[in-house]
Amino acid sequence: MSKVFKENFKEKLKSSGVSRRDFLKFCTTMAGVLALESTMAPKIAHALETKKRPPVIWLEFQDCAGCAESFLRATRPTVEKLILDTLSLDYHETLMAASGYLAEEAKEKTIKEGKYILIVEGAIPTAENGIYCTIGGKTAIEHLHEAAKNALAIITVGNCASFGGLPKAAPNPTKAAGVMDIIKDKPIINLPGCPVNAVNITATIVHYITFNKLPKVDKLKRPLFAYGYRIHDNCERRAHFDRGEFVHEWGDEGHRNGWCLYKMGCKGPVTFANCPRVRWNDGVSWPVGAGHGCLACTEPDFWELGAYNQANIPEYIPPATYPKVGKVKKEVPSSADKILGGLIGAAVGGAVAIGLTKIGNKKSEDE
Ligand code: SF4
Ligand code: F3S
Repeated sequence: MSKVFKENFKEKLKSSGVSRRDFLKFCTTMAGVLALESTMAPKIAHALETKKRPPVIWLEFQDCAGCAESFLRATRPTVEKLILDTLSLDYHETLMAASGYLAEEAKEKTIKEGKYILIVEGAIPTAENGIYCTIGGKTAIEHLHEAAKNALAIITVGNCASFGGLPKAAPNPTKAAGVMDIIKDKPIINLPGCPVNAVNITATIVHYITFNKLPKVDKLKRPLFAYGYRIHDNCERRAHFDRGEFVHEWGDEGHRNGWCLYKMGCKGPVTFANCPRVRWNDGVSWPVGAGHGCLACTEPDFWELGAYNQANIPEYIPPATYPKVGKVKKEVPSSADKILGGLIGAAVGGAVAIGLTKIGNKKSEDE
């Protein structure tokens, strides 16, 4: 079986113009994204070439379809796309050719056979028994329970499915909730983001195919390989933060020079995601790299933080190199300085000296 699969997979790579070198490069990149040793790349390559993919059911509820868009937007036939293409995507409302009863039949068959991965996009409205999102006569809650019961695991894509996202923004009229608020008896991997970064979907699936298990997660069920790092600690503008060099206005000199966006509302200090490392659009850039602050889109209730409000940094530890703040200690001048000072003093007129004394007094009051 695995031999046939390997031959088919090789054929697929070849017909898509992906060389063996590109494929191995992809496996090394995946090892990097998963925070594994690069020596794991051959193991990943072997698994991808030989192991059958689990079937996938992709459900979409209260959302903008941005995560499905993010998942599909490959600018060229990348290996990532091929890996995802070779998934047996048995049901995806937006992508599948079948519709109506045929589509529902495909889903029911997969649910009956079991051992599939359930991917959920979008929040689930729970007010009034869930009537605010009804598909084919069933509420989103019913669809979710039905598809979750025989799933091996659930992967939520995007902030809405993970934590309720924008539909949950105050006053949350539909009582939108994330999957983990409703399903309590299945392993759940949350991949929040607005939208989710497709690299993290690929890496989660590659991890599952390679090791037959889901990656380790944090207390919000987010995989540590992607959400175990604070944006602020990996940001290319961090040196400017530490030096107190901030953008104060869009387009000002600091903005043109790539200074820190904290004062423009950047939430990097309170956000956990791998955006600075894996970036977006085939690794071209990321929000802070493009000149806008991070909105904390991988955190619960990010919409309530206010895009341009400054983040509260309770655990911030200033770097050891910060100068001491307080009363400036007067240095005892050296003899040479004293002589030079005396000469300058003599050269400056009395009136000027009185003026300077006034300014000097003001300064010491401020201090
Ligand atoms: Fe980067 Fe934002 Fe942190 Fe500034 S506040 S260093 S822009 S993450
Ligand atoms: Fe979201 Fe911030 Fe990354 S806004 S895309 S977590 S830089």
